[in-house]
Amino acid sequence: MPLFDHFRFLAPIYRYLVPAPKPDDLQRALELPISGALLDVGGGTGRVTAQFVGQVGQVVIADPSTAMLRQAMDHPRLHPVAAPAELLPFADTVFERIVMVDALHHFQDVENALHELLRVLTPEGRLLIQEPDWRKWTMRLVSWGEKIALMEPQPYPPETIVEMVRRAGARAHCMESGGHTVWIVAEKGVADNAATDRIAGEMQG
Ligand SMILES: C[S@@+](CC[C@H](N)C(=O)[O-])C[C@H]1O[C@@H](n2cnc3c(N)ncnc32)[C@H](O)[C@@H]1O
Repeated sequence: MPLFDHFRFLAPIYRYLVPAPKPDDLQRALELPISGALLDVGGGTGRVTAQFVGQVGQVVIADPSTAMLRQAMDHPRLHPVAAPAELLPFADTVFERIVMVDALHHFQDVENALHELLRVLTPEGRLLIQEPDWRKWTMRLVSWGEKIALMEPQPYPPETIVEMVRRAGARAHCMESGGHTVWIVAEKGVADNAATDRIAGEMQG
């Protein structure tokens, strides 16, 4: 557990500090619209998924920081829930989509969190993880900054995240999202990861 609750202090200014990702790109990667529910894990103020209201049946935001969630409470169609990714208070297979933007490297126990995410994802559902591309020097500076600020980041390279998702039992591949971030896209079902790698390679190149 970090010594200090950084997000309590960042919450009121977070949306001004960090620009939200472009909605069109995420929307395509998440294959929206859908009629089912979308879960935004580590969704904080809701600035990312507020953009998808109207394209999904329901938006639920799970985050342990009540200060971050308080900002999301102003939005009439966001449903904030105070919970860590490692212990989600939801039944099995209820979310058709799960998105996680810039949050995974803040988790205490990534392996456990990934099991929880796959537990609550529907069998045909899709999980999209957006993380900073730590291979870029600008992002390495961010990681050092977070270490100095005692945020205890876990800057896993994308291949490691793909491996962890696969170990948790899903098909997964990494996609370049452009800029300074990467996407890890995961789907449940029988894990034919060799085929998934082939398709991802063809899509990108
Ligand atoms: C950098 S912010 C990103 C917030 C949001 N995804 C966005 O892009 O606006 C990271 C978020 O992860 C949350 N977080 C930290 N540890 C977490 C955990 N174990 N489970 C879920 N969320 C967590 C923090 O409270 C914070 O809101």
